[in-house]
Amino acid sequence: MRAITTICAFLFSILVSFAQEGLPDDYLTKEFHKDRRDLLRQKMPANSVAVFFANPVRNRANDVEYVYHQDPNFYYLTGYKEPHAVLVIFSDEQTNAEGKSYKELLYVQQRNARAEQWTGRRLGIEGAKTQLGFDMVFNGSSFLDSGIDFTTFDKVLYFDFFDDYRNTRSKADLFDLIQSFKVQIKLINNYTIENQTDDIETDATANVEAETVKRDTRTLRTIMAQMREIKTADELILLKKAVRISAMGQREIMKAMHPGMSETEVQGVHEYIYKKYGSEYEGYPSIVGAGHNGCVLHYIENNKTKLEDDLVLMDLGAEYHGYTADVTRTIPASGKFSKEQKAIYDVVYEAQEAGIKATVIGNTLQSPDTAARAVIYQGLIDLGIAKNRSEARQYFPHGTSHHIGLDVHDPGMYENLEENMVITVEPGIYIPEGSDCDPKWYGIAVRIEDDILVTKNGPVNLSAEAPRKSDEIEKLMKETSVLGEFKLPNLDED
Ligand code: GLY
Ligand code: MN
Ligand code: MN
Repeated sequence: MRAITTICAFLFSILVSFAQEGLPDDYLTKEFHKDRRDLLRQKMPANSVAVFFANPVRNRANDVEYVYHQDPNFYYLTGYKEPHAVLVIFSDEQTNAEGKSYKELLYVQQRNARAEQWTGRRLGIEGAKTQLGFDMVFNGSSFLDSGIDFTTFDKVLYFDFFDDYRNTRSKADLFDLIQSFKVQIKLINNYTIENQTDDIETDATANVEAETVKRDTRTLRTIMAQMREIKTADELILLKKAVRISAMGQREIMKAMHPGMSETEVQGVHEYIYKKYGSEYEGYPSIVGAGHNGCVLHYIENNKTKLEDDLVLMDLGAEYHGYTADVTRTIPASGKFSKEQKAIYDVVYEAQEAGIKATVIGNTLQSPDTAARAVIYQGLIDLGIAKNRSEARQYFPHGTSHHIGLDVHDPGMYENLEENMVITVEPGIYIPEGSDCDPKWYGIAVRIEDDILVTKNGPVNLSAEAPRKSDEIEKLMKETSVLGEFKLPNLDED
């Protein structure tokens, strides 16, 4: 036993001594996260408490999990990137039994040398204090019986619960944290931690003393949307970088693309550029659809082996330190738009121009859509593809704008445009096989999507470095890129 303890202590000391050097130095600061918590506290109803849970770990297959990604609200308020954690924020100062006052509590994953050697470093209590700036930090197991008396608050704010996760090996995993919270807010009677697989005792109908805890799963959603739709200066630095990285990916593929490339390879070129600039992830699964595949709005198979002469719709976004871009370009694999492709492309371009012009303070978030839609409908009628607006509608089946930020579809009130919002403007025309028009248009799909910062001086296109005009795209496609030139051995030859 002592030997095991010694080995664990040794492992732990190695881990602790693995100071992580050479990390990026432009993460959001602990002051940023604290400022966001303070603002949330100001917006909370009097005598309320807000409870946030970390995102679940999700299983990909067998013993492999999906790459973990923190819940954006949790990250926004804490900077904590690990699972199995709880954040509790009080609208008013609390005092504990020792007379210490506090306004927030953070429950984190317990440090564990063995687990950390397998699945990565954990911040633990000390790390959360020093690196994230929290004062009152506990291991998650302390939340199981937190001692917080939720009956004393006028509102207990939380989001609806996840219900598709469980880790039977841990006694303070997200499942336990949430179940214990349900008990603490008297949503269920009790549950049993031991032998969890078989013995969990939950009774969602119990509703014990429900009237004594004033539960609220709506208010927090509104407050977080109000906060997150306006980007702070710190956020804009990271978001602009994510967008510029994505624009660089679009530029590089314009130079690299040739008809022999596959959709997967196109995706790889973008994502290589992302990594080259230090982007950790893609903000959403990359969409690379050649020809007819472009008509599938969220096509992510990306498995067509040759682009040939297709028009290629590429909707991708780098995620940089949590913030994600959302940029689409549609380009001809041959380097030159056909007559029909150019006709459709130019209508979408003009629609996007109109949409961007409408992205101004005082307009609603719907305004870019109204402006872009009018151009697209008229363009489709002029080209003889639709007889009237209601026929034209089928070729532009999605909205034009959404907020971006920590989520690609970021929360917001979706009402009036205000300074320092960042929204997409992304009109498109999609003409699937069998549409009620001349077959010469079949398989043409065009979306152009840019990320627009709303300012007092009008819209600023953050993704403008990726050419949008058809002639500018053709010009850049004449250049070359090493990513389109280099050859690898053919693995299919004997
Ligand atoms: N990439 C998803 C979207 O454009 O909304
Ligand atoms: Mn979008
Ligand atoms: Mn997109």
